[in-house]
Amino acid sequence: MKLRALCEVTEIEDGGTLAFPPAEGGFLGLFALRQGDQVQVFINSCPHIGLALDWMPNRFLSTDGRQIVCAMHGARFRLSDGMCVEGPCLGDMLETVMIHIKDGTLYVPENAGL
Ligand code: FES
Repeated sequence: MKLRALCEVTEIEDGGTLAFPPAEGGFLGLFALRQGDQVQVFINSCPHIGLALDWMPNRFLSTDGRQIVCAMHGARFRLSDGMCVEGPCLGDMLETVMIHIKDGTLYVPENAGL
């Protein structure tokens, strides 16, 4: 499987998020969430109507940092698995992306978001 390097893990603020543009030929961006050594990557597309989630560049979390929030209609998602716990897409999931970390660099499948 071909991989795409996104960034160094340390470029993602601990307890924060970082957005990435779509892969070449794709139209869905990605975002990474870091909590200490734990990193998750999601497709940046709300299950409600498919819009990007970020309310400011690289900002995806509620003010208390405990949920992902969609900028458009305020859906809220669990950090642990991306399940919508409040809002118009209640029970739906953000799409997670498989990750690989090697020597501190975060990789995803080249076709993630295509
Ligand atoms: S597009 Fe995300 S809640 Fe409507």
